[in-house]
Amino acid sequence: MNARFDDKVALVTGAASGIGREVVLRLAREGARVACVDLNAERLAATLADAGLGERGIALSCDVTDADNVDATVAKVVSQFGRIDILVNSAGIADPNGRRLHEIPLDAWDMVQNVNVRGMFMMKRSVIPHMLESGGGAIVNLGSVGSFRATVRASSYVTSKGAVLMMTKAAAIDYAKDNIRVNAVCPGTINTEILAQASLETMQMLLGRAPQGRLGEAEEVASLIAFLVSDEARHINGGSYLIDGGRCAGG
Ligand SMILES: NC(=O)c1ccc[n+]([C@@H]2O[C@H](COP(=O)([O-])OP(=O)(O)OC[C@H]3O[C@@H](n4cnc5c(N)ncnc54)[C@H](O)[C@@H]3O)[C@@H](O)[C@H]2O)c1
Repeated sequence: MNARFDDKVALVTGAASGIGREVVLRLAREGARVACVDLNAERLAATLADAGLGERGIALSCDVTDADNVDATVAKVVSQFGRIDILVNSAGIADPNGRRLHEIPLDAWDMVQNVNVRGMFMMKRSVIPHMLESGGGAIVNLGSVGSFRATVRASSYVTSKGAVLMMTKAAAIDYAKDNIRVNAVCPGTINTEILAQASLETMQMLLGRAPQGRLGEAEEVASLIAFLVSDEARHINGGSYLIDGGRCAGG
């Protein structure tokens, strides 16, 4: 029996850690060739090795905020694998300092927008021409529960994640007739290193508001992403999918 992603080429950003890493492992297990992209070259190599991709994989160190770096990275993937069918934009950062809006320095604000919004835009801008040329593709952008509701002292992050939703919808309708689907996955609190700098108090607060009494796991998010980029989801376009253990349901 064929695996779900046989013959597919995927590019995953944020592949060195957390959700991006789990997406690589999942797509690799199901037959894809995967380009793993991240700032952190050392941990990227570990992802590639753990995924057991061999010649089906490539690790590319890239800063998604640098346009030339993004274009060169995408060019390398196409030269190695000939095409890109799947793009998962998981590279992202939060402002760990928990400040109110008027306390945020401009450079800290810009940094979050540059990675989470501009970086995502540039990656899509560079990949989509190749999808148009090969006849289609599927893109998943990482939003957040913060795409829908604000949390205190997180204005730079939730602003960026709100923008991700509209960028997803805009791209979905721009390319719907070109067989390119664009969706957003919006996790609640997931147990990854993005939380590494959270205080004990913050962690207790996050757990306290989790209806299931636990945080989500990156592999649970990867399952949803794998479905959305698969052909089973061929009529799903421009949507945003919460994966939050019920947190936004109420309570
Ligand atoms: N973990 C959560 O609770 C949670 C919740 C909602 C949304 N998200 C979103 O999911 C995505 C993945 O988060 P995660 O939890 O896996 O985080 P993570 O910190 O474990 O991984 C993020 C990866 O992005 C990479 N990265 C950061 N800046 C980069 C840049 N300029 N260029 C290239 N790579 C860069 C990091 O090196 C890291 O490997 C992010 O967009 C995040 O905002 C996470």
